[in-house]
Amino acid sequence: AGPCDLYSSGGTPCVAAHSTTRALYSAYSGPLYQVQRASDGTTTTIAPLSAGGVANAATQDSFCASTTCLITIIYDQSGRGNHLTQAPPGGFPGPESNGYDNLASATGAPVTLNGQKAYGVFISPGTGYRNNAVRGTATGDAAEGMYAVLDGTHYNGGCCFDYGNAETNSLDTGNGHMEAIYFGDNTGWGSGSGSGPWIMADLENGLFSGASARQNAGNPSIIDRFVTAVVKGGPNQWAIRGANAASGSLSTFYSGVRPSVSGYNPMHKEGAIILGIGGDNSVSAQGTFYEGVMTAGYPSDATEDSVQADIVAAKYAITSLTSGPALTVGSSISLRATTPSFTTRYIAHTGSAVNTQVVSSSSTTALKQQASWIVRTGLANSACFSFESKDTPGSYIRHYNFELLLNANDGTKLFHEDATFCPQAGLNGQGSSIRSWSYPTRYFRHYNNGLYAASNGGVDTFDAAASFNDDVSWVVSTGFA
Ligand code: AHR
Ligand code: AHR
Repeated sequence: AGPCDLYSSGGTPCVAAHSTTRALYSAYSGPLYQVQRASDGTTTTIAPLSAGGVANAATQDSFCASTTCLITIIYDQSGRGNHLTQAPPGGFPGPESNGYDNLASATGAPVTLNGQKAYGVFISPGTGYRNNAVRGTATGDAAEGMYAVLDGTHYNGGCCFDYGNAETNSLDTGNGHMEAIYFGDNTGWGSGSGSGPWIMADLENGLFSGASARQNAGNPSIIDRFVTAVVKGGPNQWAIRGANAASGSLSTFYSGVRPSVSGYNPMHKEGAIILGIGGDNSVSAQGTFYEGVMTAGYPSDATEDSVQADIVAAKYAITSLTSGPALTVGSSISLRATTPSFTTRYIAHTGSAVNTQVVSSSSTTALKQQASWIVRTGLANSACFSFESKDTPGSYIRHYNFELLLNANDGTKLFHEDATFCPQAGLNGQGSSIRSWSYPTRYFRHYNNGLYAASNGGVDTFDAAASFNDDVSWVVSTGFA
């Protein structure tokens, strides 16, 4: 049985079931998600390998070969048509044209389930999915449950990496108009013990970690790579539960009455579904989603415990984030452009500006050093890499407003994330394409001889689709210096 079969047996059926990694009903063999490729704008659907099984990631890999792909639709497996698509602007606009949010890269969150490759939904700040025209989700004070499987190491303090019930007009319509799982280390409202991240409930105008509207010491910081997050709510009762999604059972972090702050009892749920954003389309948060559901009715702890056992049996595990030519930590490298007429140019820096310059064996020592980079273990993720300047030790290539800069490592989590990149086989068939870990739609790209973290066909001039594959493909060699 899959998670939704278990919820049905418990009398609290799924009314929305989303996953890019697997079927959530044992009999489900329909679409899991849709991807769109940049090369020709066409889409394809990814389905399970077999009924109830893991997503057929090979379909995506062949469809997206030599180009980039975005996740355009996350299908609802419950049969109610509650699919998630690109979120529209609300109280806040997203970064795409017309204020829409970004779509997620189809390759930002690779994992294996029982040894089979699949992809999660890697939400960078600015990315969001939503359905404001739902059927069957809880409204008003009606009871519901939900769970999500997330990456416990991918989070931030922005508002708000959520999955669950929100406003149907994408605006903040007041206390109690949401009931969603939140994951991250935002401390602007509630918090738990330690420094986070925490599983909290976004009930609108507040992230609640338990009985108190502020800190609840019984809500622990999460340390697991894969985490199961549970929130459920009904008339004057709600609960937060959590577990390592790869082993063990759920713990209850809070179970009790509604917050005493005005507006949350009774609730005013509206029933829209959000992923990766706040109810009002706040878009500053990040996180990774693998699977999740919403139910009708308040699931029993026993039902949720059986769902957790099913998640553990799915055996989520990490897999490689890189491909293409190998990099050796500690070595000095230079990176040559492959775009025709630019093939004598290498990634270099002039002060804090990262650019391309013509470099050869007869260049000055200074220029050779400016075009040489020491490969370091990724500052934010040891499965990827960071690039330290040869001539300015302690300074790394990082993106800032999606320009590449050479900046001193200031030790912050944001700097580490901005300076972590995951190379893959070059999109034009040459060398390597160097993808941002934190914004996996974006790659090292030269544009007018400047360097950017560019997305294929995005809103900035340096995102231009023309010449994208060539501009993001670099031949890596031993460093000039
Ligand atoms: O409740 C926290 C956030 O507050 C909600 O997600 C958002 O709608 C509002 O800004
Ligand atoms: O480059 C995008 C973002 O811009 C970085 O993550 C952040 O440091 C800056 O605000």
